[in-house]
Order: sequence, then structure tokens, then C-alpha cells
Amino acid sequence: MSGVVVVGQVGRDLVLTVEELPGAGGSADVLARQELLGGKGANQAVACRQLGAEVGLVGVVGTDSAGTEVLAQAAGDGIDVGAVVRRPGAPTALLVDLVGPRGVRRLLEDVDARMLLGAEDVRAGRGLLRSADAVLVQLQQPGPAVAEALAAASAGGALTVADGAPADGAVRRQVLSAADVVRADTAEAEALVGWAPQDVPGTVRAAESLLEQGPRVAALGTGEGDVVAWPGGHVVLPHLGEDPVDPTGAGDAFVAALTVALLRGESPESAAWWAAAAAAEVVGTAGGRPDLDLDRLRESAARARR
Ligand SMILES: Nc1ncnc2c1ncn2[C@@H]1O[C@H](COP(=O)(O)OP(=O)(O)OP(=O)(O)O)[C@@H](O)[C@H]1O
Ligand SMILES: [Mg+2]
Repeated sequence: MSGVVVVGQVGRDLVLTVEELPGAGGSADVLARQELLGGKGANQAVACRQLGAEVGLVGVVGTDSAGTEVLAQAAGDGIDVGAVVRRPGAPTALLVDLVGPRGVRRLLEDVDARMLLGAEDVRAGRGLLRSADAVLVQLQQPGPAVAEALAAASAGGALTVADGAPADGAVRRQVLSAADVVRADTAEAEALVGWAPQDVPGTVRAAESLLEQGPRVAALGTGEGDVVAWPGGHVVLPHLGEDPVDPTGAGDAFVAALTVALLRGESPESAAWWAAAAAAEVVGTAGGRPDLDLDRLRESAARARR
């Protein structure tokens, strides 16, 4: 396969929008309900597909009806789900996103340990990984699975993109030596870099320190925006868009758009604007599922860049 292979979480999203999030003992009427394919890996895969890439997914679901439904939805989205493992006797991950007013949200994550990827699950998808043009690895998955995915991606010569920060020091070193692109939100940046950037200049220094360890693009959240750095340059991006509704999935859209743009030969600076524009779109709607369009994204990225 040519295209993007995403290694990460697949599950069911339940997105409930309420006027006010109730406190302890309270209750609220739900204004809107969505039940759909979700999880960080699936959301990244959907974003890559919407931006025109061929996409394969490596993840785990149960043999329950939720697993059957989300896989059918992913296949309907045009994603190759042949390397998604069905784990018997374990429940498919359920992610409940409670969306209140003014971008306030609460997330409930019911992710059984058996829904995490093991090294053997990734090994079973090695053929897919080795033939990919780009591999997008979620560092929230266990270290052995991450290590296996990075090794297969490197062996196949794929553009290797890592999102997040691994808990384990040895995996962190492997990520920095194997990944072409690393991306971390504000909280993850400290774990990835080893110290906490305090401001935008500090975040630029942090991104540059990552580049010295191997990657050729480093993208770090700053709280008010993002820094994307490459050898010899960087760009500071503000948060784009207005009226944030729900931040869920914004990082996933960011890293997916960054990956697809780089794969299409965009410069790191241009890819960074695509990423910020994609994230802003997802922040503008409830739930983590993206609704992207390549031409629209190109235009909004170009407009923001001017
Ligand atoms: N209020 C906002 N308006 C516009 N864009 C935003 C806003 N908040 C975040 N973003 C964009 O979304 C990106 C992801 O933000 P966030 O810090 O939530 O990442 P994350 O924690 O990795 O998200 P995810 O839940 O997808 O893992 C940021 O890097 C930024 O580009
Ligand atoms: Mg994230």
C-alpha cells in the first residue's frame, strides 16, 4: 500500500452536547447526541483520508457489536481496516465527550487494557507498515508497540511521524532517533524535551533541541498556538478560527494534516499552516471526528498565512 498507516486507538465516541455541564448531583438535558467511530488513531486516519491519502489503520477493537460497528464505519470512510485486531472477550473502547458551552468539555475514557496495542499486534500489520509512504504513531500506546511500529516504518523507508510523548525513557530515545516528525501538545512537550518550555522563545529552543536529536520537523504546542521548527527555520502559529466549541481531536487533526502536507511535498512551513487550519476546524465542532476537505484546507491555510 502507498499512503498513510496510522497506529493507534480505535473506539466508539459518544458525544453529548449540553447547555451547562451538571455538577455533582445535578442533571442536564442533552441537546445533541452523536455515536460514531472515534479514538485518536481512527480520527487521525479519517483526517488523512479526507485529505486525499490512502489510509490503513493498525489498532484493536473487541469482538462486540461496538467493534463491528466502528470497523464498518471506518471501512465506509475508505480506510483499510485489515490490520485492526479483534480481541475476543474484551469491550471496544468507549470515549464519552461531554461538550458544554464556551469550549468546556469533560472526557470519560473507558479503555480496557486489552484494547491497547501489543508488539505482536503491530508485528501482524508489518506488511502494511513496510509498504507505507508515511506512518503516524501515537505515543499513548504501550512502548513495545510503539517500538515495533517505528522499526517497521523505518525499515520500509516511510516518513515516520510520532504524536505525543512516551512514558518510557528508552522509547523516548528511540522515537527521537527514528521519527522524521515529532509533535507534542503543551503537556507532552515537557516529557518529550525533558524540561518545561515557559514561553514561545523557550518552545522554539525546545523544538530546536529535538531537531538536534534526529527529527527534521518538530511541532510543539505553546498554549496560545504552536511552534513548528525544521533545520534552519521555524514558524510560530497562532490559534486560528473563532469560537472554540470542543478541543477534542484538534491535536489529531493537526498531526494528520501535517503528515499529509509533508507527504504531498509541502514545505514544513506550509505544512504547519495546513496543520493549524485543520486543528481550528475540529475545535469549531463538537467531538473529535474531523470533517476536512483538501481544497478548503489549502485555502484557509493560505489565507491564515498572509
Ligand atoms: N481554541 C483553539 N482555537 C483554534 N485552534 C486551537 C485551539 N486550541 C487548540 N488549537 C489547535 O489544536 C491543536 C491541538 O491542541 P491540543 O493542545 O488540544 O492538542 P492535543 O492535546 O494533542 O489534542 P488531542 O485531544 O487531539 O490529542 C493545537 O496545537 C492548536 O493548533
Ligand atoms: Mg494529542
